[in-house]
Amino acid sequence: MNAPGSSDPLTIGLAVDGERRQVDVEPRTTLLDALRERLGENAPKKGCDHGQCGSCTVLIEGRRHLSCLTLAIQHDGAEVTTAAGLTDEDDPDGLHPMQRAFVRRDGLQCGYCTPGQICAALGVLEELAAGHPSHVTADLTGPIEPDEAEIRERMSGNLCRCGAYPNIVDAVREVAGHPPPDRVADALAATAGLTQTADTTEGRS
Ligand code: FES
Ligand code: FES
Repeated sequence: MNAPGSSDPLTIGLAVDGERRQVDVEPRTTLLDALRERLGENAPKKGCDHGQCGSCTVLIEGRRHLSCLTLAIQHDGAEVTTAAGLTDEDDPDGLHPMQRAFVRRDGLQCGYCTPGQICAALGVLEELAAGHPSHVTADLTGPIEPDEAEIRERMSGNLCRCGAYPNIVDAVREVAGHPPPDRVADALAATAGLTQTADTTEGRS
């Protein structure tokens, strides 16, 4: 055990995406740096490093955490899940339903924020299932409806520089069992309609 105030490295154990790992960290090392710099786990992203963007979100024992705001030594022995560790054997590509919904709903552009968004979204579903109210929950007496306002509020700590917010919210609502209209399918249908009209017009000239 280190003497109080010592900055000597300590060896801790983490179960990262189901694999038991050991890592030497200084007491001041954040969980994000331990994952990325020491263990080579690059799914959690370093955006602001100050708890303001959400790109470093991981699940610790199933609950969402900003890994840049917590010290690695606080989680000795914990199970840490990153977006890279999510999977589903029933999916043809092994994607977790939340990952599949982000793809289907076009909930990403550059993808930098996406691992954090997906971990945060899973944390949100756990919080909803546990009945934890948010700032916008109107009825505190029954199950919480995962409507657009509720999901937007709960995901508001995860920023997306590309502005993919509408589709991110749609993806989370889909997995929450309240699928909104499919904007992607609607857009494709509208594009197909425009193409058909252009072809018809061209054929007349
Ligand atoms: S990197 Fe952790 S919140 Fe931005
Ligand atoms: S998809 Fe580019 S930052 Fe969110």
